[in-house]
Amino acid sequence: MFILAAAGSAIGLGNIWKFPYMAGKYGGGAFVLMYLACIGVIGLPILVAEILIGRDARKNPVGAFSVISRGNRFWTAVGFLGVASGFVILSYYSVVGGWTVDYFTKSAAGSYLEANPGRINEIFNQMLANPWEQAVWHTVFMAATMGIVIFGVKEGLERWIEVLMPLLLVLLGVLVVYGLVAGDAAGGLGYLFIPDWSKLVTNAAGEYTPRPMLEAMGHAFFTLSLGMGAMITYGSYLGDHESIPASAVMVALLDTAIALLASIAIFTIVFQYGLDPTAAGPGLVFQVLPLAFSQMPGGRFIGTAFFLLLSFAALTSAISLLEVVVAHFIDDRKWARRTATVIMGTVIWVLGLFSAFSYNLLENVTLLEDKEGQGMPILDSVDLIATNYMLPIGGFFIALFAGWFIKQQVRDRQLLDGSGSRAFYRAWLFVTRYFTPVAVGLLILFMIDKHLGIAEWVFGGK
Ligand code: PFF
Repeated sequence: MFILAAAGSAIGLGNIWKFPYMAGKYGGGAFVLMYLACIGVIGLPILVAEILIGRDARKNPVGAFSVISRGNRFWTAVGFLGVASGFVILSYYSVVGGWTVDYFTKSAAGSYLEANPGRINEIFNQMLANPWEQAVWHTVFMAATMGIVIFGVKEGLERWIEVLMPLLLVLLGVLVVYGLVAGDAAGGLGYLFIPDWSKLVTNAAGEYTPRPMLEAMGHAFFTLSLGMGAMITYGSYLGDHESIPASAVMVALLDTAIALLASIAIFTIVFQYGLDPTAAGPGLVFQVLPLAFSQMPGGRFIGTAFFLLLSFAALTSAISLLEVVVAHFIDDRKWARRTATVIMGTVIWVLGLFSAFSYNLLENVTLLEDKEGQGMPILDSVDLIATNYMLPIGGFFIALFAGWFIKQQVRDRQLLDGSGSRAFYRAWLFVTRYFTPVAVGLLILFMIDKHLGIAEWVFGGK
C-alpha cells in the first residue's frame, strides 16, 4: 500500500496549482527542464533515501533519526526540522485547499459559466478579498484533515485513492485533449517545452538572479513531499520484499506526469485567450480552467468533478503533512492520537489564518521580496521559506545521513535484497553522497550570495 499512500501524498496542489503558475512565472521551457532534471538527480535519490530510512527504522522522522543514529542530538534535530516544516507548510496548504473546495461549490452552482476572462478574474479576486470566505474554507479543509488523521482511517483512505487518482488522471487527459484541440496547442507547448535558458538566471528586468533555479529545485522537494520526513513515515508501510527503487521511480513518474498534464491543459488555454503566462501567479488554475469549463460541452459537470478531485488530492497530501507532526507527539511523547491531532491541528489552523488573511485584512503586510524585488503577501512568503529553504536543507541532511552516516549493511539490505539492481544502487550511492548535497548546498549558497553579490560579479551582471 506504500505506492498509494505515497502517491496520495506527492500528488496534490503542488502539481496542479503550483507547478503551472511557477512554470509560467519563471519563463516556461527552461524552468520546466530544470525542474525535470531536479526530479531526476535530486528528488528521486532523496525519495529513495527517505523510503530506505523509513523502512529500516519503521518510525516517524524524529524517531527514525534518533534510533538509527542512537540518540545523536544533531540528527534528531534534523527530524525536528521536518516536523517544523510540516507545521509551516500545512498552515498555508490548508488555505489553498480551501480555495479548491470553494471552487468545487462555485462550479456546482455554475457561478463562472459563460463568463468572460475579465469576470472570471473578478470572481477569483473577490474570493481572495473576502476574509470570511477565506477563513471558512480554510477551517473546513483543516477540519477534514484533522478528522481523518484522528480516526486514522488509512485503509479506507487508500481505497479512495485507488479510485479517485485514476479518475483525476483521466480528467486531466480530457482537459489536455481539449486544450490541444480547442486551445492554442503550438503556443502552449512551445512555451512549456522550448527553453530560453537566460530565463533561468535573470529576472524580468534582465538582471542576474539565481531565484528561478532555486525555485525549480525547491519545487522538486515540495512536489515529491521530500525534505521533511513524510516519505520516511510512509516508507515504513513498504513491505520487506518490495523494491524501493521501483516504488520510488513509480511515484516520481506519476507525480511528474500529473504536473505536466495540468500545465499543458492550462497553457494551451492561456495562449488561446492571449493571456500573459508570467502574470497570473497563484490564481492561474482558478482563472484559466474555468474559461475552458465555460466553453466545453458538459463543462459544469467536468468543472465540478475537477475541483472535487483536486480537493481530494489536496486532502491526501495535507493528511501526510499533519501525520508527520502528529506521529512525533504520539510515538515519542506518548500523547493520545486524538489529543495530538486536536492540539497540533488547532495551532496550525491559527497559523494558517495569517495566510488566509494575506490578500485581504493583512494585504499590506509583506515578508519577503519576489524575484522582481516586490514585497510578497504572507502566504507566498511562507511558501517560499518552507519550499526553498526548509525542505532543501532537510533534504541536504537526509542525503548525507543516507549516503554517509547509516551503516553499509543497512543500505545493502534495503536496496539490494530481492530484485535490487546493482547498477541503480551504485548510481544512487554516488549521486546521494556527492552530487545531491553539493547541488543543493550550492543553490542555497547562491541564494544567500544574492545579497553579497559575488556570483553577480562573476556572471558580469555589474
Ligand atoms: N507533495 C504535495 C503536493 O505536491 O501538493 C505537498 C506536500 C505534501 C509537501 C507533504 C510536503 C509534504 F511532506
